[in-house]
Amino acid sequence: MLILLILKSLPLCLSAGLKVHVPDSPVVALFGTDMVLNCSFSGVNSFNQSQLSVFWQLADTQQSVHSYSEGTSLFSDQLALGNASLLLRSVRVADEGTYTCFVRVEAYDKASIAMQVAAPYSKPLVTWEADNPKPGDVVELTCLAFGGYPEADVLWQDGSGNNLTENVTVSPVANEQGLFTIQSVLTVILEPSNTYSCRLTNPLLGDEGNASVTITAQGSSFPPVALWVTVGLAVCLLVLLVALAAVCHRKIKESCEEIRAVRTNQKHREEKEATPLIISSQR
Ligand SMILES: *[C@@H]1O[C@H](CO)[C@@H](O)[C@H](O)[C@H]1NC(C)=O
Ligand SMILES: *[C@@H]1O[C@H](CO)[C@@H](O)[C@H](O)[C@H]1NC(C)=O
Ligand SMILES: *[C@@H]1O[C@H](CO)[C@@H](O)[C@H](O)[C@H]1NC(C)=O
Ligand SMILES: *[C@@H]1O[C@H](CO)[C@@H](O)[C@H](O)[C@H]1NC(C)=O
Ligand SMILES: *[C@@H]1O[C@H](CO)[C@@H](O)[C@H](O)[C@H]1NC(C)=O
Ligand SMILES: *[C@@H]1O[C@H](CO)[C@@H](O)[C@H](O)[C@H]1NC(C)=O
Repeated sequence: MLILLILKSLPLCLSAGLKVHVPDSPVVALFGTDMVLNCSFSGVNSFNQSQLSVFWQLADTQQSVHSYSEGTSLFSDQLALGNASLLLRSVRVADEGTYTCFVRVEAYDKASIAMQVAAPYSKPLVTWEADNPKPGDVVELTCLAFGGYPEADVLWQDGSGNNLTENVTVSPVANEQGLFTIQSVLTVILEPSNTYSCRLTNPLLGDEGNASVTITAQGSSFPPVALWVTVGLAVCLLVLLVALAAVCHRKIKESCEEIRAVRTNQKHREEKEATPLIISSQR
């Protein structure tokens, strides 16, 4: 705090010699990891370390970061080499912001660096609920992913790659650590069969995965199991009838032949029996 007061009371006496350097583009820190915010200074050939002041400030909160925070430190052995980088331990969402590196060696300079925090999401999960779905039914699909930062973009696509994202409501909720749960609800009118996929994109980390469901909606109001049982029974009945007809046909044919055979036998017997009669009568 003392250093801050001294720096603020100083008139802007930016030296032509001393120059503080930080990365030009924002840096991305992974949630939970350690992060080094680079800051180096040049333009002073040799200096006594007791003359050197280094001070880091988080712009959004105007908080002095280095002098009070437990989670930060400088690399003291590196200071003499012009390296005033800040080490942030176990980065949190609250650490996101613009950091300013102040350096004073007789003269004074500063530079600011933006740090963004990123956390990967869980693999998305698509769920839906409908008993006995039929084409034309309106069904809600839910895509869920959690534990990420910052807010992710959700892209819904059908099996042909068409963008269905239009009719979606996304409800992001942050937990106490500032990490988001993304729940996206897509309302679709069912087709006989289609695949619906949910793709999650983290603006800092890129593609975070996809999940999909394939919904097959039955055309008739018959529940599929009952339909198959009915078809099976019908086929069994048909086979039974054909077999019965075949058996009957054979039986009828056999009995016809039997009758014919019996009749011929009778005729023969009658003829045989008749002959002796005739003969005997002739005797
Ligand atoms: C910090 O500086 C070192 C050395 O110049 C470099 O290797 C490293 O990539 C830098 N880190 C970041 C986050 O810019
Ligand atoms: C400063 O020193 C730290 C620790 O050795 C190192 O990680 C970092 O890259 C250095 N930064 C620069 C800009 O040299
Ligand atoms: C650095 O500063 C300290 C205290 O002001 C002094 O005792 C020391 O002699 C100085 N060293 C050099 C190399 O100037
Ligand atoms: C969004 O819903 C409207 C009616 O609710 C429908 O006409 C339109 O086709 C839907 N868009 C998509 C991409 O599904
Ligand atoms: C999908 O449609 C939404 C809403 O119209 C749009 O914001 C988004 O950019 C589209 N995404 C792609 C990849 O076309
Ligand atoms: C989903 O992601 C996996 C890898 O994570 C990839 O192999 C697959 O092609 C993706 N599916 C679609 C439909 O893009």
